[in-house]
Amino acid sequence: MKNRDYAGKLAELENSFIEYADRFLTAQPLFNRNIILKREHSLRVRRECTEIAGSLDISDHDRFITEVAGLFHDVGRFEQYTKYRTFVDLKSEDHGQLGIAVLKELNFLDGFDATDAAQILTAIGCHNRRTIPEEEVSGRELLMSKVVRDADKLDIMNVVLDYYRHPETNDTVTLDLENSPAISGAIIRSVRRCESVAMRDLRTVTDFKIAQLGWVYDLNFPRSFQIYLKRGYHHELLKYLPENPEVSDIFGIIDRYIVEKAGVQ
Ligand SMILES: [Fe+2]
Repeated sequence: MKNRDYAGKLAELENSFIEYADRFLTAQPLFNRNIILKREHSLRVRRECTEIAGSLDISDHDRFITEVAGLFHDVGRFEQYTKYRTFVDLKSEDHGQLGIAVLKELNFLDGFDATDAAQILTAIGCHNRRTIPEEEVSGRELLMSKVVRDADKLDIMNVVLDYYRHPETNDTVTLDLENSPAISGAIIRSVRRCESVAMRDLRTVTDFKIAQLGWVYDLNFPRSFQIYLKRGYHHELLKYLPENPEVSDIFGIIDRYIVEKAGVQ
């Protein structure tokens, strides 16, 4: 396929995706808000994938496959929300696996050869795991999975910050956690040790914000760090955290980490 054909195929898949997502719209605006949130997020993640994959030394074909995986990474969210009225996997089901089932059922990947389809499904299945199981996933699949995870995090940073900017709007974003300034010890320790935080350790919205600072430990590519830094996500997040020495200390660790990984002098 030529570049132009990849662009055409992507546009076609985007239309099918939008059509699929819109089937979940109802007469209830509050419900629809969450469907639209995930629909728009998916479209933006696809664009983030274009940007990150564009910085890597991979073929046009692999770049295209990565973008398709980005577009469909959250395709399970619509059924999940419709069925359970939550985006919390622990309270419903694994939305990565649900997405794989949806893609297979709807034949969205007809026309892809078996290897490409398998890579897309692997990237979707891995995108919401705490870490990628590197004993099972390697080579191109691993690279694509990493791009999708970075792209997802970069966009979710903005979705969540938008919620902090307008807290009255949508509490599904912070996973229904208790709205308290308290930070749990386990969360502080993980972030200090440069480890990402387990979802099940989160107790409060402030825990979630600290954990969110720690998402940078999961980013993989210099371009992802450069985008993060350019958007100044961590600086904005800091505005919504309590002012105390513990938070300043963690912020310093995170800031140094991002600057170093972005390769900025
Ligand atoms: Fe997701």
